[in-house]
Amino acid sequence: MLGIIGGSGLTQLANLDVSHREVVRTPYGEPSGPLTFGRVGCQDVVFVARHGYGHTIPPHLVNYRANIYALETSGVTQIISVASVGGIRDDLGPGALVAPHQIIDYTWGREMTFQSGGGGPVVHVDFTEPYDAAVRKLLLDVSSRIGEQVIDGAVYATTQGPRLETAAEIDRLQGDGADIVGMTGMPEAGLARELDLPYAALCVVSNWAAGRADSTHSIKFDSLEAVLHLAMARVRRIIEGICAA
Ligand code: HPA
Repeated sequence: MLGIIGGSGLTQLANLDVSHREVVRTPYGEPSGPLTFGRVGCQDVVFVARHGYGHTIPPHLVNYRANIYALETSGVTQIISVASVGGIRDDLGPGALVAPHQIIDYTWGREMTFQSGGGGPVVHVDFTEPYDAAVRKLLLDVSSRIGEQVIDGAVYATTQGPRLETAAEIDRLQGDGADIVGMTGMPEAGLARELDLPYAALCVVSNWAAGRADSTHSIKFDSLEAVLHLAMARVRRIIEGICAA
């Protein structure tokens, strides 16, 4: 079963034929909201809105562990995570869709592992390739087949938020090799890997990162909503395509 984690701009999946909603409790607390079960086409899908259905949970307070654990115990076998990001690389301006291939984690103070130190053996999961190759390929193949351009590959810098970055911070991230910047990529991807759950991200560039192009002096929020709205319609088409594949 496919699990979809929706981010800013995707708090509901309009094309999801909902069968039921379930409040799932986990040893790590409650997920961001009840899981929404249903079908897209012939495929069973579970959806959860990362920031809550009313978009009230900021990135540093999302219960990533509960979200991933709840999806896994509900029978999810692969996850597509949808997230909005700022564009750093020249070809990643507002409206672009991108499937990142790498992550740099700048977050801190988040519950970022299922390992509780409760006496079990310490496990160091391999995270060389943070996204699952097969789920990425599915995402990219389907997008290209239905004519939706998704850029293949970007280094996703995960910042702590909830404030946006300074221009100097973006310069530093770019120097580190980052192409896009968002606030939720980690620990989500790492937790999915700990549970061996194939996971890939579909990122929507909502704005130029701080100090870039029309964000030279500030990031304008009025255009951000409109960009996200249009791009999420494309994301829904891609999800439909994946479910039909
Ligand atoms: N920075 C961090 N996170 C984001 C941005 C950004 O510019 N845009 C959307 N999410």
